[in-house]
Amino acid sequence: MQDLRERFEKAGQGHVFKYFDALDKGEQEALLNQLKMVDLDELERLNKTLVFAKNTDAGIDFSKLTPAPYIPLPPEKDADAQWAKAKEVGEEAIRSGKLAAFVVAGGQGTRLGFNAPKGLYKVTPVKQKSLFQVFAEKILSASRKYGVRIPWIVMTSHINNAATVEFFEENAYFGLDKGDVIFFKQGLMPAVDLGGKIILEGKGKIAMTPDGHGGCLRGMVRSGALAELKRRGIECVSYFQVDNPLVNIIDPYFVGFHILGKSDMSSKMIPKAYALEKVGHFCMLDGKLTVVEYSDLPAQYQEQVDENGKLKFIAGSVAIHILDVGFIERLGSSTKPEDRLPFHRANKKIPFIDDSGVLQKPEKPNGIKFEMFVFDALPMAANPVIIEGFRGDEFSPVKNAEGLDSPATCKAHQKAQWARWLAAAGVNIDTDKDGVPGIDIEISPLFASNQADFVASWNALGQKPEIRNGLYIA
Ligand code: UTP
Repeated sequence: MQDLRERFEKAGQGHVFKYFDALDKGEQEALLNQLKMVDLDELERLNKTLVFAKNTDAGIDFSKLTPAPYIPLPPEKDADAQWAKAKEVGEEAIRSGKLAAFVVAGGQGTRLGFNAPKGLYKVTPVKQKSLFQVFAEKILSASRKYGVRIPWIVMTSHINNAATVEFFEENAYFGLDKGDVIFFKQGLMPAVDLGGKIILEGKGKIAMTPDGHGGCLRGMVRSGALAELKRRGIECVSYFQVDNPLVNIIDPYFVGFHILGKSDMSSKMIPKAYALEKVGHFCMLDGKLTVVEYSDLPAQYQEQVDENGKLKFIAGSVAIHILDVGFIERLGSSTKPEDRLPFHRANKKIPFIDDSGVLQKPEKPNGIKFEMFVFDALPMAANPVIIEGFRGDEFSPVKNAEGLDSPATCKAHQKAQWARWLAAAGVNIDTDKDGVPGIDIEISPLFASNQADFVASWNALGQKPEIRNGLYIA
């Protein structure tokens, strides 16, 4: 204990012991356990580079930035030799049990303002299925289609792990085999105030926050989840975020392009909906694939057009990747600085104990949280592949309570997708100009999770259901 105290004092963080002597034994032990997890050298580095540095911009020479190349979506995937080949290779890999699904669900979801893990949020228009249920059914459906067990890794955090596991238990894992769902908690980082001091959120507790979605790489290794995947013969994982129910989790084309490209990490891109859309941009910088966040890319670049009037930096990153197990292992277990993902700074409102020992809930950001981003692994990946996806079949995140990227827009996009699938099967529903039907409809992933499968399953139905408000096709 003395040794720990001295180390914190030497690092200028001795204040974390301010109330120590007044704590009971259990509280003292809990605090010491928290403090043992803090890497003081790392914290000092982060304070220097992210808290005190005068210049905390991304340090990018924008004049050197060029758009990243990607494989464009053809009008008909199966009629295109390259895409058809990728599908064949991807299906073979899936069928032979080489793919696992991986959702990162450790975030705090503060923008949505939902008082539970985000995966519990009810997102579908008719059955009010939760995000986790939608994903589980997509995985189950692929598992049945390909006749293979598909493990699903769920990254949680210390804040939401218990509630997440309980939800899966209560819902009998949504039909999945419990042994195929593997939870692990991501790492934590101490949060600091604007002067770089670790924040006390209680007299015997320091503020620790999840280390960002990029923390999944070292989290996979440290938790043993990666070893379990290797034991099962898994070679790559399909990475997605918890807020996007449209995601095509088991996509043979994507898997095939990843394998054919001998890629460490592949990504899906969606053409930006408009110049200033808040997504990352796939760019090349010094010969490396890099995602430049919208907040780091000056508007003049976001808005640049080519001679045909098309956006130059059009490739939006929507946080859909395939990662090789070997690549995760290399980055997640390496101690070499060049293999480590960088940290970024996020200013947040963090409750704290003031000088008189009273808990304060700040109205404006008072502290800094350190996070890693998974896309920062791309510059370190060999042969990264990017393929284009169709937004309507891939991406509609629930981020905000209202407005853009909200439950309302996401419901509309789900309905529009299903109306398109029905139209492809010859059933036309009245829609608005954006293709959104006025009535509520829903198609279960267990019936079909892509248009081609929907048309086949629909055609195979003896009696077709009546098209009406509240239609649920399962
Ligand atoms: P967001 O960037 O939307 O962050 O995460 P968030 O914490 O969920 O939400 P806000 O910003 O507080 O509203 C994108 C994805 O990354 C996961 C989230 O769960 C989501 O799937 N994530 C984020 C983690 O798993 N861990 C983290 O530390 C941060």
